[in-house]
Amino acid sequence: MSKEIIPIGADHAGFELKQHLIAHLKELGYEVQDVGTHSPASTDYPAYAHPVASRVEHGEAKRGVLLCGTGLGMSYAANRHPHVRAAVAWTPEIAELSRLHNDSNILVLPARFVTEQDANTILDTWLKTPFEGGRHERRVEKIEPAPEAK
Ligand code: RB5
Repeated sequence: MSKEIIPIGADHAGFELKQHLIAHLKELGYEVQDVGTHSPASTDYPAYAHPVASRVEHGEAKRGVLLCGTGLGMSYAANRHPHVRAAVAWTPEIAELSRLHNDSNILVLPARFVTEQDANTILDTWLKTPFEGGRHERRVEKIEPAPEAK
């Protein structure tokens, strides 16, 4: 069976934790597509959010991972893409609920607020949790397209 491809990206604030999670994902048997950044030098998060989100938007990857200092900038940029539901999660419970209720397809980690061990647990939980469907399906379907402003 071919390995699932997981695109991952981070800015300088998430660079070190990205490197850690790449090793973790490889150990779990995933093929990782690292879109950068490739050093701790200061850089702009949208440059990494858009390539990861674009792969998910176009079905080239089922899901992806992003990291920045707070997770917020990455989530704003990724969520501009149709069909992308990027969830900032700083606990395993939030990651789990983002899958169960919101069918999140990008996990965004706030690298300045989680340890490596936290990040492993959050990512593992997110990867293994299915979408619950049912009433949540209807709600997720209503997310887009956004209604015209009245
Ligand atoms: C970089 O200093 C920081 O602003 C960025 O990583 C992120 O937290 C933005 O949302």
